[in-house]
Amino acid sequence: MASIDRSDPVILGHVLAEHHELFCQMMAVRSAFADKAAVSQGRVDATLVALHALQEHLRCHFEKEEEGGFLEESIARMPRLGPAVAAIMKQHPSLLAELDALIKLLSAGDSSPAKWEQASRGYECFAAHMQAHERTENAVVQEGYNEDLGLLD
Ligand SMILES: [Fe+2]
Ligand SMILES: [Fe+2]
Repeated sequence: MASIDRSDPVILGHVLAEHHELFCQMMAVRSAFADKAAVSQGRVDATLVALHALQEHLRCHFEKEEEGGFLEESIARMPRLGPAVAAIMKQHPSLLAELDALIKLLSAGDSSPAKWEQASRGYECFAAHMQAHERTENAVVQEGYNEDLGLLD
């Protein structure tokens, strides 16, 4: 079995790299919404392309996390993290549903400023939920991989 301290930087680096990639995709959508120019069908279409790319990426990201790996390993190292990991997993479907609803909203009907505003606010809300989710994951992994090494207080 690989020694615990040898695998730590690799696992943590991998988790952080995955979350950084997700952050970049989320920023692409945010900048699509942030442009102050008047809303047009072209802008809506470009934003939908970015939202679909984010949705695909997120689906893969969640699947990987649910298949096992660092979250499961964190529980194996520290069983008391079980409830925190279960709560994290339970958030995946609702986060995907939030994104689905946004895509449906923007895909349907016209490209009115009111709908654009609604979608923009909806995205900020989703982004806040997503950031809180990833922060909790990073904290669980750090706890699972470090506390048993005495690296945390
Ligand atoms: Fe997750
Ligand atoms: Fe994640």
